[in-house]
Amino acid sequence: MEARLLIVDDEEIALLNLQHVMEKEGYQVTAARSGAAAVRLLEQKDYDVVLTDLRMEGVDGMDVLRKSRASQPKAEVIFITGYATAESAVQALKHGAFYYIAKPFRLDEVRKVVAEALAKVALRRENDALRREVERYRDGDGIVTQDTAMQRLLDIARQIAPTDCSVLITGESGTGKELFAKYLHRHSTRCEGPYTAINCGAFSEQLLANELFGHEKGAFTGATALKKGLIETSSGGTLFLDEVTEMTPSMQVKLLRVLQEKEVLRLGGTRPVKCDVRVLAATNRDVSEAIRNGVFREDLYFRLNVVNLQIPPLAQRKGDIPLLAQHFLLKYASRMKKPVTRISGEVMALLMDYPFPGNVRELENLIERGTAMAVDDAIEVEHLPESLQKAGTLNLRRIDGRLPTLEEQEQTYIYRVLEEVKGNQTAAAQILGINRASLWRKLKAWQEAEPGK
Ligand SMILES: Nc1ncnc2c1ncn2[C@@H]1O[C@H](COP(=O)(O)OP(=O)(O)OP(=O)(O)O)[C@@H](O)[C@H]1O
Ligand SMILES: [Mg+2]
Repeated sequence: MEARLLIVDDEEIALLNLQHVMEKEGYQVTAARSGAAAVRLLEQKDYDVVLTDLRMEGVDGMDVLRKSRASQPKAEVIFITGYATAESAVQALKHGAFYYIAKPFRLDEVRKVVAEALAKVALRRENDALRREVERYRDGDGIVTQDTAMQRLLDIARQIAPTDCSVLITGESGTGKELFAKYLHRHSTRCEGPYTAINCGAFSEQLLANELFGHEKGAFTGATALKKGLIETSSGGTLFLDEVTEMTPSMQVKLLRVLQEKEVLRLGGTRPVKCDVRVLAATNRDVSEAIRNGVFREDLYFRLNVVNLQIPPLAQRKGDIPLLAQHFLLKYASRMKKPVTRISGEVMALLMDYPFPGNVRELENLIERGTAMAVDDAIEVEHLPESLQKAGTLNLRRIDGRLPTLEEQEQTYIYRVLEEVKGNQTAAAQILGINRASLWRKLKAWQEAEPGK
């Protein structure tokens, strides 16, 4: 889309001159002969940049700025004035002007400032687009993804959620296993009932048994009162057994009995208690290996694994990185009440290149840290941990024994990014830190030069 400029000046000659110059730059220019005319125009149509004289009869440049801020907050306003004082410049910038050009000015300077303002507008628009995309992919449940394999998992999850069948959720650490467990609970007929999660790897056998099964009064020294276990208190709801493969063999036997009989025997008890609980389990271990090594009982595995949801690592769905990054940026910026809205192109490129052994949790931590460190409206490279900053050092590759030209290097890099995001140009442009139109122009030019590519 052509950039739209509104130029405001009550000096006819200056106005026509600027209009001419900016039209030659390829912008779509509207000229206003007074502040009042500009205010009317700002009510009727959207502009990207407003270039206005400061001193005008009646409605002046500051009024135009105020009007623009109020009705078109996305537009940037640039002042041009012959009465430049430090004080008026500070005033203008304080009220949100993008820049302040003093007369007499060089046309080069105006061209440059307008181009910079437009780049800022374009980047903000790209970020807005990405934010809208995040909303669209958020699924109302906090699971953000654009990956087809993940979307298939979500479809399956939606389908099996209302049934009572057990689900084993597998995947590397930080891939979102617990998020899926909560999702299943919320979409089940038990959603009004309790959801309880317990990390089976975090307790000794005795403590875990006590937590899960509870005990009768007097079951052991210190058991001064009856305590119901989580299996019992989760009745009517969902129990999520995290790191289920860490259970000892004897605990596995007890759990299997509970699942088969749908009743639980409290420690020290003699009469089993009926319980109506749906069990979800998760592990980041390779389950078949655990079974082969005799660490995990196969019969329990079959009980738990009625349906298996295997969540792919983040490295296998790099297209999710920009979306998740933006999602976490929204989350932490609002939590910290900081006006951080952007992730710089360079940061995004580093994130796309990083293998993320800690998966989504690691990305979330990076963005949380970056948001906390950001001083402006963007997360920049210096807000990343040093180890990650270093990962960005370019590897020089040679073509026919020589180093590549800047354009060749750019081309290789852009194609690589496109590959990573499976051809999604919006995502690629975001990562590259350019707007989609410029990405498209570059691709088109290369295609025309080398139609086979
Ligand atoms: N697709 C996603 N969209 C939004 N947030 C996500 C997504 N996947 C993971 N997260 C977030 O990442 C963090 C880690 O997710 P979660 O705790 O579910 O991972 P996990 O697989 O259970 O990890 P672990 O194996 O270490 O227990 C959480 O804060 C979660 O909200
Ligand atoms: Mg977990």
